[in-house]
This record gives sequence, structure tokens and C-alpha cells, in this order.
Amino acid sequence: MTERGTNAYKHHRDVPPLVARAVRTARAAGFAFSCRPEQGRLLHALAGGATAAIAETGTGCGVGLAWLAAGAGPGVRLVSVERDAERAALAAGLFADDARVTVLHGDWPAITPHGPYDLLVLDGGGQGKTPGDTPADPRALLTPHGTVAIDDFTPATTWPPTHEGAVDHARLHWLTHPALSATELRLAPDLATVVGTRRGEDLSGRSCCS
Ligand SMILES: C[S@@+](CC[C@H](N)C(=O)[O-])C[C@H]1O[C@@H](n2cnc3c(N)ncnc32)[C@H](O)[C@@H]1O
Repeated sequence: MTERGTNAYKHHRDVPPLVARAVRTARAAGFAFSCRPEQGRLLHALAGGATAAIAETGTGCGVGLAWLAAGAGPGVRLVSVERDAERAALAAGLFADDARVTVLHGDWPAITPHGPYDLLVLDGGGQGKTPGDTPADPRALLTPHGTVAIDDFTPATTWPPTHEGAVDHARLHWLTHPALSATELRLAPDLATVVGTRRGEDLSGRSCCS
């Protein structure tokens, strides 16, 4: 059986040292929902393309943020927000020596004043997956040509994609978003991520790439 979340790192020991520390922190806190190594490696690669600022919603115990920080360049700011006070404090402690990283305690829109971002990872709030969770607006949060990543989908085998027997409206929202060129990446047989790049605009403000 495929291990999920924090447990998946039992089988993936070749990770950056900061990721290993974050995984130990998550285990010690009993937090099971860290991003899987497959997603972490994607975050690491995407962070390498950021030039100025990265944001994450849902810090957890800092595993995804550690992948991002390990992949980001020295001049790139990273902002992550977590609504659980204990997890936010644990993650803030992990990154205390890294001046690039800010961990906020609060609801996910707290990242807004620190943007816009050239990479936005929606992993806790702003995904639109649960009732009452309004999806983040890529026009407000991303720089032109900035990238958004939404984790933790089951790979689609139909169009429209379905989840638990019904149309997966959250995934459709991102895949058909008018401000994005988006696609689904299968990272493992049971795991997919949607990645979208904000479309450029011509001088009249119209999308130039549709
Ligand atoms: C899947 S876990 C995040 C895992 C983490 N990003 C990682 O890679 O290890 C989701 C986290 O999002 C947090 N969360 C959920 N809704 C939130 C919201 N509206 N604002 C901020 N954090 C939220 C939860 O408390 C939880 O810690």
C-alpha cells in the first residue's frame, strides 16, 4: 500500500537536510499530512525558477516549505501561512535561521499583502476544494507568468474529472481558469497536481495567449 503524507518519507530518505528536519518535526508533532516526496520534488524544481517571491498556504509543520526553501535562490522571499498556532510556531522555529522565510499564523489570505508571487502553492486554504473555501485569485496573487500549484488530486481518467463519483469542480476551476494556462501532472499512480501559469496580457489588458 502507498504511504501518504509524512509517513511516505520512510521510503524516501534521500531528501535535503532541511526537509528531513521538517519531517522529524512533523512526526514528533503527530502531524500526518505533510506533502509527499513526489510533490516536494516538484516544489523544489518550481522554486528554482522563482526570481523574487514564493507563497504557500497551509504550512503544516514545514515540509513543503523546506522543499521550496531548498530549491529557491538566495534572493527569493518565501511566505507561508498556517492557521493552527502550534504548527505555525513549529515551522517558524525550523526556519528561524533563514532570513528569506516568513511563517505567518492566520487564515490563508494573510499572504496577500506580501505578494505578488512568482510561485504560489495552495496546500491549505484558497484551493476551493471544501465548502466555504473561496479559491485564490491568481490575477491578484501572481506576477504575470507566475505559477500556481494545487496539490493532492487523484489522477484524472475522465473529462470532466470526477472525485468520489461526482464532477470535481475544484479541479475544473483551476484547469479551465481564464487567467491561467493549466494542466494536471501525474506525480505517482495515485497522486496528481494541477499547475497553472498566469497568462500574459497585451497592452489593452486582453489575454495574449488564449
Ligand atoms: C495538507 S496540510 C499542509 C502540508 C504542508 N504544506 C506540507 O507540505 O507539509 C494542510 C494545512 O493547511 C492548514 N490550513 C487549512 N486551511 C487553512 C486556512 N484557511 N488558512 C491557513 N491554513 C490552513 C491546516 O491547518 C494544515 O496544517
